[in-house]
Amino acid sequence: MRLGVNIDHVATVRQARQVREPEPVTAALLAELAGADGITVHLRGDRRHIQERDLDLLKEVLSVKLNIEMAATREMVTIARRVTPAQVTLVPERPNELTTTGGLDVVRHAEPLKNTVVRLQEAGIQVSLFIDADLKQVRKACAIGVEAIEINTGPYADSSEDDQRNCLSKVVSAARLAKRQRLEVLAGHGLTYMNIGPIASIEEIVEVNIGHSLVSRAVLVGIKQAVREMRHLLA
Ligand code: PXP
Repeated sequence: MRLGVNIDHVATVRQARQVREPEPVTAALLAELAGADGITVHLRGDRRHIQERDLDLLKEVLSVKLNIEMAATREMVTIARRVTPAQVTLVPERPNELTTTGGLDVVRHAEPLKNTVVRLQEAGIQVSLFIDADLKQVRKACAIGVEAIEINTGPYADSSEDDQRNCLSKVVSAARLAKRQRLEVLAGHGLTYMNIGPIASIEEIVEVNIGHSLVSRAVLVGIKQAVREMRHLLA
């Protein structure tokens, strides 16, 4: 299973003082050296952590896949078409949220999303949609012609012990349907060193994106060790 490392929190620390350190690009290169298969960053409308200059530098220096999470807005599409990362993941974005909450409602917003997807694909960018583990959302994602989906593992991560099996089985069903529809299946949100095991054993999932838990560990043990330890937990 591939590991995508989300380095937004490194930029959050930098922006806390609006200075030059810590440098997210350095963190990305160290993660790459330690075995990350991709680097993910979320360019938010309010620029609270990642900045446009980070995208340009990452695009220039990374050897592994650069995945940019963004809202499906005209401004973001223009930026993505200029930077041309390997992949864009479209996510819902609410101004005051602490982190992404819930997947995109592809069923409800199919038409505008489809236009955004086409504009990105025209620039040679693979598009993934961040969606909840819901079969209707998977079918619609497939219908609008994306290459991949990222299943929201937030509800699984937040679930009580009693509800965890139920949440996990929804992730499995969504992953199976998506694979049958020939979508590449990714997963992410709320994944930690403690809860990754059952997700890592879902064979349809080819990649996980992990940020908070990994960067939290990196603060204490260093980013290379944090990436290596997570790599070890993925098949
Ligand atoms: N996937 C998506 C679409 C996200 O928005 C985020 C958070 O930026 C993640 C994965 C990573 O989540 P976490 O930081 O909880 O590991």
